[in-house]
Amino acid sequence: MGEDRKNYKKRILTGDRPTGHLHLGHYLGSLVNRVKLQDEYEQYILIADVQAMTDNFDHPEKISHNIVNVAIDYLSVGIDPKKTAIVLQSQVPELFEMTIYLMNLVTVAELERNPTVKEEKKKRGFDNSLPVGFFTYPISQAADILGFNADLVPAGEDQSPMLEQAREIARNFNRTYGVLFVEPQALISEFPRLVGIDGKEKMSKSLQNTIDLSESEESLRKKVMKMYTDPGRIHADDPGKVEGNPVFIYLDAFNSDLKQNEGLKARYREGSVKDVEVKEILFGTLNNFLEPIREKRKFYEQNKDLVKEIIREGTERGRKIVSKTMREMRDKMSVKSF
Ligand code: TRP
Repeated sequence: MGEDRKNYKKRILTGDRPTGHLHLGHYLGSLVNRVKLQDEYEQYILIADVQAMTDNFDHPEKISHNIVNVAIDYLSVGIDPKKTAIVLQSQVPELFEMTIYLMNLVTVAELERNPTVKEEKKKRGFDNSLPVGFFTYPISQAADILGFNADLVPAGEDQSPMLEQAREIARNFNRTYGVLFVEPQALISEFPRLVGIDGKEKMSKSLQNTIDLSESEESLRKKVMKMYTDPGRIHADDPGKVEGNPVFIYLDAFNSDLKQNEGLKARYREGSVKDVEVKEILFGTLNNFLEPIREKRKFYEQNKDLVKEIIREGTERGRKIVSKTMREMRDKMSVKSF
């Protein structure tokens, strides 16, 4: 394929838009997986600051400010910079050179059909004012994936149309200019989306219903205490519903004491435990989970130069790969320098 990768580990690319602190939903949906995968695979995590501009172009400081925060989130949950390269997208200009060439291989109709673009377009109110940059971000994301020659892309269900687009572009390129790209495979997260503290289907910064990995003890307590439970339960001795109840969803996800969870559920169902008692236990569980993460965060907060160095070094490693892909692409497309 594109590179000489004898006895190589399979390569993984994942990424996030740096628009805010990462939260428990990110942890269960992807971070925990990345921490596991880094031992077995050659892993790159892209901090997609240029992609973040596609819907935040009017407040760029939100992005620049969050690059280091997101890197600290990664490092505090156990991403090891020796095993995983943290790559800053904007500092790999070859990705954007690739994007321009790949644009020739995609039709407007294809982009219009992309369910993720459709959904986000609606969510952001871009009906009649859709920026071209936003419209074409699936092509830029395909450049990320193909530029790294990723074998695997771990992603949430919502990202699978992006991956399908990348595969389609890879096939189209290989057919048009000669075989260069591996068709990347999706590694869809098994964990269903974590609901927000308000019970909405998704934990999301824009819905203000998150518990962040950087949450302080005090604010964690406040958030847990105001969490949505069973709306039909008014008195502590009313039988309560456990299914779909965020408090129990979080306990199932974070409390490894299964017996305690089952006991609480049984008592909740029969109306012999107060909401606040369950919440106390959830608070303790989450606080124990976050404590070691906070410790590590404190270290990196005090050593931001080290974090920046980690990003610089990871970006350099990533850029080497993408530059090589770009050289091979130019070659295949007969783009020459004189
Ligand atoms: N679209 C992803 C998100 O919003 C971020 C991303 C950019 C990405 N480039 C990528 C993910 C390449 C996987 C592979 O979270």
